[in-house]
Amino acid sequence: MQAATTPHLSSATEPVCIDLGERSYPIAIGADLLLDASQFAGLPSASAALIVSNTTVAPLYAQRLQAALSAHYKTLHLVVLPDGEEHKNWQTLNLIFDALLEHGCDRKTVLFALGGGVVGDMTGFAAASYMRGVPFVQVPTTLLAQVDSSVGGKTAINHPLGKNMVGAFYQPQRVVCDLATLDTLAPRELSAGLAEVIKYGPIADMVFMDWLEANIDALLARERTALAHAVRRSCEIKAWVVGQDERESGLRAVLNFGHTFGHAIEAGMGYGAWLHGEGVGAGMVMAAELSRRLGLVDAAFTERLTALIERAGLPVRGPILDAADNAGRYLELMRVDKKAEGGEIRFVLIDGPGQAVVRAAPDALVREVIDACCG
Ligand code: NAD
Ligand code: GLY
Repeated sequence: MQAATTPHLSSATEPVCIDLGERSYPIAIGADLLLDASQFAGLPSASAALIVSNTTVAPLYAQRLQAALSAHYKTLHLVVLPDGEEHKNWQTLNLIFDALLEHGCDRKTVLFALGGGVVGDMTGFAAASYMRGVPFVQVPTTLLAQVDSSVGGKTAINHPLGKNMVGAFYQPQRVVCDLATLDTLAPRELSAGLAEVIKYGPIADMVFMDWLEANIDALLARERTALAHAVRRSCEIKAWVVGQDERESGLRAVLNFGHTFGHAIEAGMGYGAWLHGEGVGAGMVMAAELSRRLGLVDAAFTERLTALIERAGLPVRGPILDAADNAGRYLELMRVDKKAEGGEIRFVLIDGPGQAVVRAAPDALVREVIDACCG
């Protein structure tokens, strides 16, 4: 990924556009968008819409979304899922299909994902498969979902043996990021979202990394202007990557910086014990350290990145997954990663600040990194 081709900066008021031909869509970013019915105008017409949310988010925001959508849909249904990564599975996905069928929803029904990445990923997968595909809209309410998971059309559920192993590429019709919803987010979840924000610097835009270093305290204090810029710049970079490689045949893999180690942490600790963003935080430190040991970046870079991750309130060391053979357990879990080819693990590494590369590394070196970065 070359710095010279870094995506352009949009104006602070226009939606960010994800350019995928006939599947292109806008990402609206602003405060109190849930109070503005016009944000949901012009979507595919349908007699009914189904809002999918969870037990935490529905009591906070479902009424607002229902009020905004009532201007556009005659009938509105709501399904409330159990909350948590440990529920991102077949049983919970089936609750969405149960609701669709019990309400007699036809193939024009529009689904609205109101929640974080878990609700978004499951709603997207349900939309991709119900009657072989119905339209859906992402209304992300976590920082992580606003800067990453709601954009780009990856949908999935987890399998006990691997994270996001069953799913589909299926693009939403629109993404509506209401920054006001971030006011109620738990501090730990805000930090988890910052992991996915921080990743865009080392892989694509060191100017953004400079900005993050200068504004991390404002982001933690939830200053709206800072949050607006972080969400916008993250979406611009993600839209630029996905616009070139929607189905991850190459470039898109760079968005998984820190995720190979991070997914092993999530699966190894049991889904929900470490938040996705926390795994990515420690995982980015490990991937940067691997990059350093391969001679791709210097120690000053890894120290700088580690300091930013720590300031964001994220773990910078991985957990011990197996007291007898910790590195062996990480390697075993990482071989299930979707980027692995023929059992060979492929890592997103930093190939000089602002550029990423995807490549394999010798097991012995990976073991050294795990030993140095865990516990
Ligand atoms: P999450 O969906 O579990 O949300 C985190 C917590 O915050 C939950 O308890 C949720 O109920 C609560 N919450 C949500 N919005 C809230 C609000 N406004 N106020 C108060 N509480 C609120 O987790 P997440 O971090 O949003 O997403 C993580 C998931 O996203 C993982 O499953 C990960 O695999 C996935 N993901 C997908 C992609 C993708 O491209 N599809 C990218 C990154 C991550
Ligand atoms: N979050 C990684 C991707 O969307 O490709």
